[in-house]
Amino acid sequence: MTKITTLLLALAATFATASAASHCVPETQYKNWEVWAMDQSPSVDPTNSSQQLEYGGGIYVLSSEQALGKDKKTKPFFIDLANETTTLCQKSTGSTPVVPHLIWFNRDQTHASISFLGTGHVVIFEAKTRKPVSCLLMPINPATNQSGVHAVIPTYDEKYYLVANSFGKAAHKISTDFKNNKFELVDTLDVVNCKTISGLPCEGPARPNNIVPCVFELNQTETNNLAFVSLVGGGGFVIDFRKTPMEIVSEYDQTHYYGATCWALPYSGNSFINMAFRPYIPSTGFSWYKFNATGYLNEDPSVNMPEITKVMDFTSNASDIHAITQINDRLVWVADRAIPSIKVVDVLQWKIVNEIFLNDTSVSPPVRRTADWTEITPDCKHIVGSLRGPITVKGDPMFTPGGLPGVMVLDIERNGLTGKVNHVYPLHKEIAGLDYMDVHGLILRKF
Ligand SMILES: *[C@@H]1O[C@H](CO)[C@@H](O)[C@H](O)[C@H]1NC(C)=O
Ligand SMILES: *[C@@H]1O[C@H](CO)[C@@H](O)[C@H](O)[C@H]1NC(C)=O
Ligand SMILES: *[C@@H]1O[C@H](CO)[C@@H](O)[C@H](O)[C@H]1NC(C)=O
Ligand SMILES: *[C@@H]1O[C@H](CO)[C@@H](O)[C@H](O)[C@H]1NC(C)=O
Ligand SMILES: *[C@@H]1O[C@H](CO)[C@@H](O)[C@H](O)[C@H]1NC(C)=O
Ligand SMILES: *[C@@H]1O[C@H](CO)[C@@H](O)[C@H](O)[C@H]1NC(C)=O
Ligand SMILES: *[C@@H]1O[C@H](CO)[C@@H](O)[C@H](O)[C@H]1NC(C)=O
Repeated sequence: MTKITTLLLALAATFATASAASHCVPETQYKNWEVWAMDQSPSVDPTNSSQQLEYGGGIYVLSSEQALGKDKKTKPFFIDLANETTTLCQKSTGSTPVVPHLIWFNRDQTHASISFLGTGHVVIFEAKTRKPVSCLLMPINPATNQSGVHAVIPTYDEKYYLVANSFGKAAHKISTDFKNNKFELVDTLDVVNCKTISGLPCEGPARPNNIVPCVFELNQTETNNLAFVSLVGGGGFVIDFRKTPMEIVSEYDQTHYYGATCWALPYSGNSFINMAFRPYIPSTGFSWYKFNATGYLNEDPSVNMPEITKVMDFTSNASDIHAITQINDRLVWVADRAIPSIKVVDVLQWKIVNEIFLNDTSVSPPVRRTADWTEITPDCKHIVGSLRGPITVKGDPMFTPGGLPGVMVLDIERNGLTGKVNHVYPLHKEIAGLDYMDVHGLILRKF
């Protein structure tokens, strides 16, 4: 039995009754789910299992029964990215993709998009065949002489992918035709050399380091036209991504918005919240910001307008935040890889109301379970997370290692106030006696 220690702060008791109205809303159109978990470390050399290639990586597709430990007979489906994906990319782009990083599914759950942080490739997989159908290479920015894609996020209307080119310091727009498996790079916003509406250079004293971790929509609707371009060094842009070229409609500097993020969560009707973590080690914690949903009208002056309000600060020198998952309109789970734990944040009180510790303490010494990316199952019953391995891949700047790589399923309890580990599906990649498995990106396909 796994022993989970949960620390309920004093607030918890009052919270339990107050939270009665905050339920996770199940996505009843789905009956089941499977996990696509990505190992970002290079593949085993097929001609010599004692060494690693310099490229590849893998996707493990686990059924919900496998992830929950109910099916112990069958093995996950394995996609070796050194195989067909590499061949496809070499053919269509002339180069080899390196470090597969994050993964998303489109709203219809038909295609997965994968970012390659090492090289700037974008690969689209078809869910039904589990095969790569397209590989594009995002351009190198002459200002950095690099390309490296962190995230490829589909728009809600199924028309585009918004691409965050971290090391190429750019936002890209890819048009999608899921029926015919046709994907095309249609626009690039270079965030080094662009000018904002106030005439400032996009990168400069106001925004010192425009590595782009994510470009994501501000609202999930068919007609939403606004996306946030998050920047590692602080500050950010709200863009109208429907226009070509994409247009900056609001600019924020690092004093108004500090940190990096990949999410906008709906909050009390007319606004959004997001959590900005302070990336790179030593990370010092995270902050929450509240955004107005309206007012991005490109009316002069849209500098630091509409206002972004900082609503919460968590500061710690032992913190390494990466993923967040919204449970309901009140609670968000924030995975901290440094502890490792999940911090439960109440976004009405702006407080950490609980911390769910993840280490397996049933053995001595405890086994470190470093939860990385997390997703909620459509029935609202579980959180599924990737667990980092002991040797984290070169090129991933977020490097808190774990003791046991794999896929972890937690049960959500008491309307999200707490939870406990239900099952861990370990994944290993042993090469010359060392475990190189490094599960990072993870997404659920719902069906
Ligand atoms: C296999 O790889 C290991 C580690 O790089 C190396 O020492 C060994 O000589 C290789 N074996 C063959 C047959 O090439
Ligand atoms: C590589 O892909 C081919 C099909 O193109 C498949 O037959 C083979 O099993 C794959 N090998 C691995 C190691 O995945
Ligand atoms: C750009 O990067 C390439 C590949 O790493 C390197 O060969 C080239 O010298 C670099 N060019 C500049 C101008 O730094
Ligand atoms: C965001 O989208 C939802 C529908 O999904 C809508 O009800 C809400 O009003 C939108 N919010 C804003 C501020 O546009
Ligand atoms: C932001 O929203 C608030 C209330 O929802 C409103 O009073 C305020 O005028 C808005 N600010 C801007 C700059 O649009
Ligand atoms: C973290 O902060 C504590 C207290 O301020 C300090 O004693 C400790 O040395 C710090 N650790 C690191 C790694 O900076
Ligand atoms: C979790 O386990 C690791 C490895 O044993 C240890 O370094 C770490 O301090 C543990 N964390 C907690 C909160 O127990």
